[in-house]
Amino acid sequence: MRTGLVAVMLVAAVSAVRAAEPHVSAYVEERQARMRGMEEALLVLELMARGVLPHDPQLAARKAADLAIQAGGIADSFGDTPASRWGPTSRAAQSVWTDRADFLVRAADLEARALALIDIARDPDARALLPGAVAEMRATCESCHARHMKR
Ligand code: HEC
Repeated sequence: MRTGLVAVMLVAAVSAVRAAEPHVSAYVEERQARMRGMEEALLVLELMARGVLPHDPQLAARKAADLAIQAGGIADSFGDTPASRWGPTSRAAQSVWTDRADFLVRAADLEARALALIDIARDPDARALLPGAVAEMRATCESCHARHMKR
């Protein structure tokens, strides 16, 4: 009985601390999961482009569509709130917010490339274009990380 009460009090205390922590940010967790989802989709496309995975137009188009949807949500994932900007688990550089135009252009560029990749993946005549488009996609990710991510 007493132990039960202590446990309840402990849980209540922990919840209160959690609620009071301004730096625990759902934004940070959500956008990191979004980024990992893009990593996974791009990896499948890279393996296919290199011939490690068999060529599968439907799977490629699905992964490209996945990338487009995720890319379309990048801007909203990096909201301008204290918890989003200063979350201790975040590796986002302050330039995401101080150089917002550059960040948004890069996010839009990624989305446009992903949309183009859907068409390339679906078009049997465009198969030779897949490796180049996938490599450019990777370069687009990396150039944003170089500019807007802390090492
Ligand atoms: C518009 C800029 C931008 C683009 C484009 C971008 N990223 Fe990111 N990415 C970031 C930022 C900023 C972070 C750091 C987020 C944080 O920790 O708050 C990040 C973090 C990551 C992480 C680490 C996630 C974690 O678990 O901490 C991975 C993996 C990643 N990105 C993959 C990708 C891939 C793959 C692409 C391309 C398909 C991509 N990113 C495109 C800005 C970008």
